[in-house]
Amino acid sequence: MKRIIFATNNAHKLDEVRAILGNTIELTTLKEAGITEDIPENEPTIEGNALAKARYVWERTGCDCFADDTGLEVDALGGAPGVHSARYATDGHDFAANRTKLLREMEGKEHRTARFRTVVALIEGGKESCFEGVVEGEITTSEMGEGGFGYDPLFRPEGYEQTFAELAPEEKNAISHRGRAVAKLAAYLLADK
Ligand code: IMP
Repeated sequence: MKRIIFATNNAHKLDEVRAILGNTIELTTLKEAGITEDIPENEPTIEGNALAKARYVWERTGCDCFADDTGLEVDALGGAPGVHSARYATDGHDFAANRTKLLREMEGKEHRTARFRTVVALIEGGKESCFEGVVEGEITTSEMGEGGFGYDPLFRPEGYEQTFAELAPEEKNAISHRGRAVAKLAAYLLADK
């Protein structure tokens, strides 16, 4: 089976991507690859951050690897938090504080459309490729659901009554930004090249 490093320390993302890839590709974690520090994410775009994370791992291991970066783009907020989604409320990855800030910023707003955008950056044999996944939806007026992570309790995908946090993991993966980007990654990795 093909082995590849997934450059994340987020256990939720690892679970999601493992479930999407099934037994087609074996994922090595950063810890297993000997990288224990946080990888810097200081680029001005989602694609830039995904590529920077993948390059960081490639330069230190020389192994095939991929990284993802995600932004939540809210139309009524001019596309914010966007590339700053992880550090929207504080300097750390405080999911609850980020949701509280988003609800506050959206108070009284009727137009609530938004999208999650993920870019997966792959480095395979030194060659870089990027895959994008997008899901449209809207921001709810309160938190709903216990599943998922991050902004999931506040994001209702288009055509659904439930938020991502209320959907079963396989339902979220089938339509999510990350699910769509990782499906493209898998098709590329498994194709004859
Ligand atoms: P990251 O930089 O790709 O880890 O993600 C940026 C921010 O978006 C973090 O605060 C995550 O919690 C959030 N995020 C990433 N993916 C998801 C998701 O699938 N659902 C909800 N929030 C997410």
